[in-house]
This record gives sequence, structure tokens and C-alpha cells, in this order.
Amino acid sequence: MTARAAVILAAGQGTRMKSDLPKVLHQVGGRPMLDWSIALAESVGCDRIVVVCSANGHAVHKHVEATLGAGAIAIQDPPMGTGHAVRCAEQALEGFEGHVAVLYGDTPFISQGDLETLLDCLEAGHAVGVLGFEAEQPGAYGRLIASPEGGLEAIVEARDATAEQIEINLCNSGVMVGAASDMFSMLSRVKRNELKQEYYLTDLVEIARTDDKTCALHVCPEQDVLGVNSRLELSRAESIFQAKKRDEMMLKGVTLTAPETVFFSHDTTIEPDVIIEPNVVFGLGVTVQSGANVRAFSHLEGATVASGAVIGPFARLRPGAKIGEDCRVGNFVEVKNTVMETGAKANHLSYLGDGEVGAGANIGAGTIFCNYDGFLKYRTKIGQGAFIGSNSALVAPVEIGDGAMVGSGSVITKNVEAGALAVARGTLVSKSGWATRFRDKMAAIKAAKKQG
Ligand code: UD1
Ligand code: CA
Repeated sequence: MTARAAVILAAGQGTRMKSDLPKVLHQVGGRPMLDWSIALAESVGCDRIVVVCSANGHAVHKHVEATLGAGAIAIQDPPMGTGHAVRCAEQALEGFEGHVAVLYGDTPFISQGDLETLLDCLEAGHAVGVLGFEAEQPGAYGRLIASPEGGLEAIVEARDATAEQIEINLCNSGVMVGAASDMFSMLSRVKRNELKQEYYLTDLVEIARTDDKTCALHVCPEQDVLGVNSRLELSRAESIFQAKKRDEMMLKGVTLTAPETVFFSHDTTIEPDVIIEPNVVFGLGVTVQSGANVRAFSHLEGATVASGAVIGPFARLRPGAKIGEDCRVGNFVEVKNTVMETGAKANHLSYLGDGEVGAGANIGAGTIFCNYDGFLKYRTKIGQGAFIGSNSALVAPVEIGDGAMVGSGSVITKNVEAGALAVARGTLVSKSGWATRFRDKMAAIKAAKKQG
């Protein structure tokens, strides 16, 4: 296979987002839009990826440097159109001989299959390949002028289109592929558009045709080329992502009883035969194994749930929660950075932070792992089969041995040995008849006062 590279355009200002955060770093499915395009490029085997950034897009520079390395940054200063933007990547791609895909940092849903098909057009001998779509409302999109044979003759920007051309519904997604050397040499021939004072990437088609080369067209669903320019479009993109992910989950064998109320991240992994009840949110980094049940109103992130476990209703799993087979994490229980071994239970109203809970241990209602002293965090370790009575505070660092019991309402500040009972609360005092005598006395005093 010919080597592949991607140039991702991200130099636009994105002013309509009304945000201090650059547009391409706004997230869809918990992942910055730019990273969707990077992932797409990687999925088709691009081993060189260049992101074209504006000079003042420092947050984007930092992000690209962290994910792809500083060599992946090309600066476009000032932005002078899409053709100019791609040219700005030429230096970063120096020495690269293969095929180049031009992608966009604000267009997260182009599919791997469509990009593969487009790149394959180059293998078939076409000079340029363009990803098109049938637009419901063609508006400002560039119009694709197809040849009777199904090839592509030209791309005409809406503002430059004739009355006849403007009626065309087949539009340019902006995604374009070509052979690197050919593409950059054609780009050097693009003239500045008089009307817009911009260098149009789309002019490559006409230049290729002038040279008697052929251009290919591949049409994809309109939904896949959705570009994000405003918060409204961002929310539309998010809901498209969620709808796709829900369908994908259900088709794989996951039960969603009210799919439209369940929210996933791009990396949520759920095995078949998991049941997810209504109103569940999956943040980044969650894996749920077959046979687990995530009950209503639970929030999970950075967590793994093994088979047979039941989470919720109203449970919260935070990063580092590892819930073992057949465990129970019930209502208003928060688990963070804690491993629960097979069959351990915390059914009600607890905070389990920075700990280990042994197999089959039972954590009573209202148990708190006191893991933080305002400065540092400490660990709580509970042995297998241990029983923690309700409303206990376990002050970390602390260990409760295997099979030990902690009396309800205890504040445990020292380790408890295996098999022991630990009780740390005020001693019960019960005074026979005291309440009755007290009531009688007080009633008499009150009656005397009323009379006087
Ligand atoms: C472009 C296409 C148009 C297509 C449309 C799809 C051209 C001339 N026209 O329209 O046919 O239907 O995309 O959305 O290519 N960008 C830069 N530097 C620049 C200009 C743009 O990085 O100098 C980036 C922007 O950040 C944006 C993308 O390129 O993500 C598209 O730019 P935009 O101005 O929205 O596209 P148009 O030129 O209007
Ligand atoms: Ca524009």
C-alpha cells in the first residue's frame, strides 16, 4: 500500500462558538473534535499527520504537541483560504512521497470506510478524490460538477456559482485526497480568488482537469460530514454521536431499556448481555463485562465492572473503581480508586475511596473511608469476608483483617486483626425507669406553673 499522510485544517478562528477554548478542542463523546480527525487518519494508516493551526492557537499547539509531537504543527499565518492552509503543511511533509488526505478539525464523523474508498481512488489512477454528499440545504457549500461518467469536473463555490450551478444538491464536504508531490505542485498554481481574496483548495479539481488528469467523487451520508461552527451544531453533533453509539451498543447485544436517556463516551466498552437502565451516564474509560447490570441514575467514569455485578440505582463510580464479579454497589454509594473483590457488597450510602475490599466483605450503610486529612490521601484495606457495621468511619491508613467485624457506629483509627470484633463508640448506659420518672416530674412542674 502507498504510504499515507493526513493534513488536518484547524486554523479557523471558530468565533461563532463564543468560547475561549479553540473550536477544535470542544468535545464530542468526551473527545476533542480534533482528536476524532486524528483517530480517523490513524485508522486508515496515516503515519504522518500534520495539523494546520493559526498563529495564536496556543491551546491547539499544546494539544497537538502532546498528542502527535511538535513536528505535527504547521502554522498558517495569516489564514488565506483552504488551499493556502494545505500548502502550509508542505514543509512538515517534506520528503513524504505517498497519498495525502485533507481533513478538518471540526468535522468529526467522517467514516473510516468512506475515507478508505476515497484513498483507493488514487490507487486506481485518479489525481484527486473528493468526498461529496447530497445536501438537504446546499446553502453555502461548494457545488460538485460531476461528469456524465460519474467523475468530477469541477468544484464551484456557492458565491461563484451560476444560477444553474447553484441548483445542484451534490456538495463538497471539503475532504480531498491526492498524491503529495502532485497535490503540492498543483496547489502552487492556485490563483487567489478575486471575490474572497482566498486560495481555494477546491481549485485543484479544475487544475487537474486542465492537465488531462481525472478526479474521482465518492458520496457519503450528509450526517457524516456535519461540521461544527456553533454550540448549537456542537449539541447536534453530540446527539448524533449518542444516537449512533446507542444503536451500536444494542446491535452488539446490550440492553438499553430507555436508550435516549443513556449517554456514552467515545471509548465506552460494554459487552453483550449487560442491562443498562434509564438515565445512566458513562464518562471516559468505562468497561462493563457481560452479565453486569447498571441500574437507573448511575454515573460511571474510569471504572471497570465485572460480570454479575449490579451497580446502582443511584451509584457513582469514579476513576480507579474496579468492581469485581457479583459485587453490589447500591444507592448513593461512591467508589473511587478502590478495588472490590468478588462478591463484595456496599449497598447503601457509602464512600469508598482509595481502598481495597476483600472478596465477600459486607460494607454496612453509611460507611465512610476517611481517606484524606486535608493534605494527603491514605488507603483503607478490608479483608475478605469482613463485616463493617453501619455508620462506621474507617480512618485511613487502616486495615481490617479477614473475617473481622466492626461494630456499627465505630470510628476505627487502628488496624483490626483478622477474626476480631472492633467496637469504637460510647458505652451504652441504660437507666431503668429514668424516662418515666423524668416525664412525671416535668409534667407536675408544668401543671403547677399554669395554675399559679
Ligand atoms: C469549504 C470548501 C467548500 C465546502 C466547505 C465544506 C473551499 C474553497 N471551499 O468552504 O467547497 O463545501 O468547505 O465545509 O475549500 N481553514 C483553515 N485555514 C483557512 C481557511 C479555512 O484552516 O485559511 C479551515 C477552517 O478552520 C475550517 C475549514 O478549513 O475548518 C473550512 O473552512 P471554511 O472557511 O469553513 O470553508 P469554506 O471555504 O467556506
Ligand atoms: Ca469560509
